[in-house]
Amino acid sequence: MNMKQRIDWDNLGFNAYETKSMYIAKFDSNGTCIDKGLVPYGDIKLSPAATVLNYGQGVFEGTKAYETSKKRVVFFRLNDNANRFKNSCLRLCMPEIPNEMFVNAVKETVLDNLEYMPKKEQGSLYIRPLAFGSGPDLGVKPSSNYTFLVYVTPVGSYFQSGLKSLNVLVTDKYHRVATKSIGFAKAIGNYSGTLLPFKEITEVGYDEIVFLNASDENIIDEARSANIFVLKDKTLKTPPVEGSILPGITRDSVLKIGKKLFDLEVKEEDVTLEDLVNADEVFFTGTAVIVAPVGSISFKKKKIDYKKPYSDSMTKKIRETLIDIQNENIEDPFGWIYSLN
Ligand code: COI
Repeated sequence: MNMKQRIDWDNLGFNAYETKSMYIAKFDSNGTCIDKGLVPYGDIKLSPAATVLNYGQGVFEGTKAYETSKKRVVFFRLNDNANRFKNSCLRLCMPEIPNEMFVNAVKETVLDNLEYMPKKEQGSLYIRPLAFGSGPDLGVKPSSNYTFLVYVTPVGSYFQSGLKSLNVLVTDKYHRVATKSIGFAKAIGNYSGTLLPFKEITEVGYDEIVFLNASDENIIDEARSANIFVLKDKTLKTPPVEGSILPGITRDSVLKIGKKLFDLEVKEEDVTLEDLVNADEVFFTGTAVIVAPVGSISFKKKKIDYKKPYSDSMTKKIRETLIDIQNENIEDPFGWIYSLN
């Protein structure tokens, strides 16, 4: 059986399936590209002293390609991923990958792996660009060389529960990141710290965890891998992109959709625990999770159930509008869609 036959297309979930090829480029410490191109998908060779393995000098992106109603393959705000990737590289002291190279690498990889593109109803092709210090450098310092890599894999729903509203715990035991550290970058280290907290909360029956701000525990930051929104009457609010908050591209899209298409008052302001308690609706946003409804929030043994059923919610309207734009079921009023060819 080949790799493609092993894929359960109707239950893709969020897994790394082996595909045909991936893109690799190598850079020296000055940021000069010394080698680039597609190679067969597979394991990579790394020195045990590689900076990424020893000191976490690595960043990533997450974006998707969609096969749309217009029977073409499109990307969503890909240039914004390229910009964020550059900012993440800068923060981790790595050469900035130029936008043109980032976009071309993504296009080449997707084009060569089109046989792994799910049908619209099954999901999308997830694209994972990485950049990391691959030089063998024992001291804590920027690496002597770098790797830029892009791989793709078919994905469906991020949460195993599909679209069931999530039972969420707000933790006061752990922070996700320090306020003035690397939280705003898509640095690999921001994610490893969430593994144990997540394991602990799933063992007691929760679906997702939300972290408080490390400098002010009255306000909330975000979940493991998604930004958070609260809706009260016609006001939609999410924490501002400062310090510890990841500048999510879905986050920004939801702010724009909410304002332009649903006439909501949108605010990028601190979200307090009180805002959470009093909200009509709460949801997460991210490339992987898209827009995911929250059914309940628990904090210090107190549980709030959000009463609005998903079927009748603004969360649903925003989610479906975003997906309709990405799948070209409706015209894209924002200029976000970018065709592969
Ligand atoms: C994404 O939404 O693409 C992300 O990067 C989150 C990921 C950690 C699952």
